[in-house]
Formats: sequence, C-alpha cells, structure tokens
Amino acid sequence: MGELPPLDLRAPTRLLVLTGAGVSVESGLPAFRGAGGLWDGHRVEDVASPEGFARAPDLVWSFYAARRRAAAAVEPNAAHRALAACETRMRDRFLLVTQNIDGLHMRAGSGRVLELHGSLWRTRCSGCDRPPFADSSEPTATPRCDRCGGALRPDVVWFGEAVDAEADRRTRRFVKDAAQAGERLVFLAVGTSGSVWPASGLVRYAADLGAETWLANLDEADNAGWFDHRVLGPATAVLPALLEV
Ligand code: OAD
Repeated sequence: MGELPPLDLRAPTRLLVLTGAGVSVESGLPAFRGAGGLWDGHRVEDVASPEGFARAPDLVWSFYAARRRAAAAVEPNAAHRALAACETRMRDRFLLVTQNIDGLHMRAGSGRVLELHGSLWRTRCSGCDRPPFADSSEPTATPRCDRCGGALRPDVVWFGEAVDAEADRRTRRFVKDAAQAGERLVFLAVGTSGSVWPASGLVRYAADLGAETWLANLDEADNAGWFDHRVLGPATAVLPALLEV
C-alpha cells in the first residue's frame, strides 16, 4: 500500500463516503462475492429475491437469522471507527451511505448514515403496510404478521427491488448541494466491488457534478476505471491513513 497522504478535508470541503461489505470483513463478517463469500453455497435468487422468499420463506429466514447471529457476535473495526471520528470532525460536511445491513457503522458511533439496502435489524410485513419494526430475533420458521397474518420478512433490499428511496434521494441531495454551493466534494468508496446498481453508479453521478473520486478497496473493483484515485489495501489500514484519524 505504501505511505498514503491524508485527504485534504478542510472546510468547506464535503465528504461523501459509500461503504460495502469489505469494511466489515475485518470484523469477521464475510463479503458477498469471492471464495468464502456469503453467496458461496447459496444461490442469490434463493435467499435474496422476492421470488426466493415466496418459494421458500423458511430458508430465507434461516439465512438472515444466521446473519443476525453473526453480526451480533462481532464488533466494529478501525475502519468503522475512522469514519465515525471523521463525522465528529466534519459534522454536516460529512455523509455516509452504506450498502451494508449489519448496523456496524452505527455501533461505531456514526450518526449521519443512510442505509441504501435496508437493515438486518428491522422486520416488515410482506402483506400489509404496517411500518417496519426493530427486531433482533433469530426465527427458525417464518414469523407471521399479527395484523394481517401475512409473512413477515427482513426489511432489506433484495435483487429486483428498489433501494431505499429516501436514502438515495438524500445522498444525491448532498452531492447537488455541494455543487450548487460551489464547494469541493470528495467521494470515497470503500470495500465495495462496484457490481450492484445503483450504488456502483454513484461515483459517476458525483464526478459529473464535479467531485474528486477515490476508491479504497482490497482488490480492483468492477467500476475502478470510473475513479480518479485508487488505493489497494485493507480498510482498517487505509481509512485511518486517508482520513487522518
Ligand atoms: P462485495 O462482496 O461484492 O464486494 C466486497 C469488496 O470488498 C470486494 O471488492 C473486496 O475486494 C473488498 N474487500 C474485502 N475485504 C476488504 C477489506 N478488508 N478492506 C477493503 N476492502 C475489502 O460487496 P458489496 O460491494 O458491498 O446487496 O456488494 C454490494 C451488494 O451486493 C450488497 O449490498 C448486497 C450484494 O448483493 C443486496 O443484498 C441487495
């Protein structure tokens, strides 16, 4: 990795960070893709799609119950903590948008976090519009809604579903506000393979509006060519150096 200069984040520069599964790997949670990845041994369409849930809801729940168990058993790492410390310093000039559902950013102290793919720690009804509710249970069979009797499901985004609209809107608003104010914006993607839309396209959106773009990842990401700067290395080493915390 070599010596990394810290990013220049002095006011009025704003920082938008996008994280993926790679930031939680060093806490002990596997990423999705690659050998030993979460999809290893599972067909994505079986455990992470509305059709898979309709076919075999108990299987989907056992997959997510195992993920709740795994996430509850680990701790945030130095990468999560570096982002929380950066937020403390930059306040409203900082925004974190994550594809992760594990809640580790919040446990590290981050507050300005948007969860694009939902949360492992909420459940919602697949049959009625009852609001999603906090839930850390680890069901062994599909729980039912006590209002409509429908199947409850994890409040996460599956393939074929739209990302959280409010999270997406607020992320783009942050980029547009910087552009309109004529303020420098740095976009930093960390620990994401850049293979899932629309998160993978955020770099283009930010660059089109004038952002300086950085990628910090262990391996070359699918969308690496869209970034101005690329740093290869583990997030727990790269983020504290880049963010100078
Ligand atoms: P991926 O598993 O696709 O990619 C994780 C990336 O993190 C890879 O490019 C790794 O090289 C990198 N990585 C691994 N360990 C790392 C470390 N210690 N430090 C830095 N980088 C590391 O995960 P995502 O890009 O998050 O969506 O996947 C995007 C979405 O695909 C997920 O949110 C999920 C999945 O399907 C849904 O379930 C809707």
